[in-house]
Amino acid sequence: MPHIEIARYDEVVFGMVQPELGGYLAELVHEVLFDTGRLNLEFDDGVLDDRAAGRSRLRFYWDKDIDDCVVRQTNTHSRYGYEYLGNTERLAITPLTDRCYITLTTALHLYRGGSPKGPAGTGKTETVKDLGKALGFNVIVQNCSESLDYKSIGKLFSGLAQTGAWGCFDEFNRIDVEVLSVVAQQILSILSSLSQNLSQFIFEGSTIVLKPTCGIFITMNPGYAGRTELPDNLKSMFRPICMMKPDSAMIAEINLFGEGFRNTRILAKKIFALYSLAQQQLSQQYHYDFGLRGIVTLTRYAGQKRRLHSHLLDEEVLL
Ligand SMILES: Nc1ncnc2c1ncn2[C@@H]1O[C@H](COP(=O)(O)OP(=O)(O)OP(=O)(O)O)[C@@H](O)[C@H]1O
Ligand SMILES: [Mg+2]
Repeated sequence: MPHIEIARYDEVVFGMVQPELGGYLAELVHEVLFDTGRLNLEFDDGVLDDRAAGRSRLRFYWDKDIDDCVVRQTNTHSRYGYEYLGNTERLAITPLTDRCYITLTTALHLYRGGSPKGPAGTGKTETVKDLGKALGFNVIVQNCSESLDYKSIGKLFSGLAQTGAWGCFDEFNRIDVEVLSVVAQQILSILSSLSQNLSQFIFEGSTIVLKPTCGIFITMNPGYAGRTELPDNLKSMFRPICMMKPDSAMIAEINLFGEGFRNTRILAKKIFALYSLAQQQLSQQYHYDFGLRGIVTLTRYAGQKRRLHSHLLDEEVLL
């Protein structure tokens, strides 16, 4: 059974001498955990179809014909980006992040952008960044505000087109509507040049190079005061994905496991119950955050404590 096998990973993570290695292992553990979780789910549902399950995840192949690494997911494929990003932390892969990945890779395949929407702290920005890491692309996050004008956004787009990096524009709907209509034209010219496989194109009056890997993503928090509704022509260029409720309990479980805890399912349930209660019952002032951000910070801190006080029981460290 998967759980017996996994117990060994946990000993390895726990006995880790070099913390840098821990990052790599934690990522491996995340993937294994998610896969076993998904297999269990599919067995439960009685719909274990290897091919469908396998096709929906990110797969890496070495393509001998082009002598390069190709990343596939569902019907889409793209070349690996080879951007050196260091040993950074990766996200826990949950059904929601997986769905978001599929939407974003499909969007790129169709020469569109992607737009995760949802309330604060559900992992919109981080999921885009994480997909970029998985595909080896540099992701540049830009926090948008009312003061951005079409010229500065144009410069950002021109940089993305020339370097082939990804841009993630946070809070995109805070930009003024007048500016947005110009921005829509700029994005359209990039996306249509991408779809025609051009190697250079005319952008804002000058001819610039176009790298085919470039991608544009926007995240939005609809329904907040001072946010504008996107114009329809802009909406049609982005594939939306709704990220309303993060799988917090699962993320807590996987993160705790990555930090070397055992019995993580029960511990994660307790943390999740505590945080949900706190969110519902305690003061609603905005500087309290009992959402996913708080949970992730807590698991990270618990991991530090775990390594410091290795003689304590897991429950004592955490609660
Ligand atoms: N799948 C995941 N695994 C681990 N941590 C996650 C996951 N999803 C989100 N997080 C954590 O949740 C926190 C919030 O994520 P993020 O910053 O992407 O939220 P957001 O939706 O962009 O919020 P905002 O609207 O405020 O910008 C981050 O600290 C991130 O590390
Ligand atoms: Mg964000």
